[in-house]
Amino acid sequence: MEVLAMKEEIREIIDYYSKQRNPQEQENIVAMLREIQEAEGCITMKVQEEAAEALGVKPSVLSCIIKRYPSLKEADYAHEMVLCTGKSCQCKNSMEILDMVRKEFGISKDGISADGSFHLTTRNCLKQCRTSPNMLLDGELYANLTKEKVISLLEKRR
Ligand code: FES
Repeated sequence: MEVLAMKEEIREIIDYYSKQRNPQEQENIVAMLREIQEAEGCITMKVQEEAAEALGVKPSVLSCIIKRYPSLKEADYAHEMVLCTGKSCQCKNSMEILDMVRKEFGISKDGISADGSFHLTTRNCLKQCRTSPNMLLDGELYANLTKEKVISLLEKRR
């Protein structure tokens, strides 16, 4: 499974704008960033790095442009995942799910996935023990999790 690859749509956008006649022109960069923002809701650091490389500019160039346009939003990551590792959830394999997410999505020490699409933290009890194992994804509760369910929920947001 290609869980580490960047979203195809984002790759296509970057590819398109890097092949323009003057890819480093501000107008081209802004148009690309607008499209990425439309597709993702924000422009993550990871996407900025990849886009900068493809266009042959420094990542700081993109970051400066994003800061100058209030409609563009920079983010370390696009989604926030909180996995419950309380007792009830642990009894229903939440630690296995945690291990799987860490491995499959290349979670770094600071909790950010290798593609920069989400940030993972754990919590001791989400006060929903009856439906363990549980997690919050962008503040929304997802219950009775399985590894497959978690992968599919995360994949849909990438
Ligand atoms: S232990 Fe996970 S919701 Fe309570």
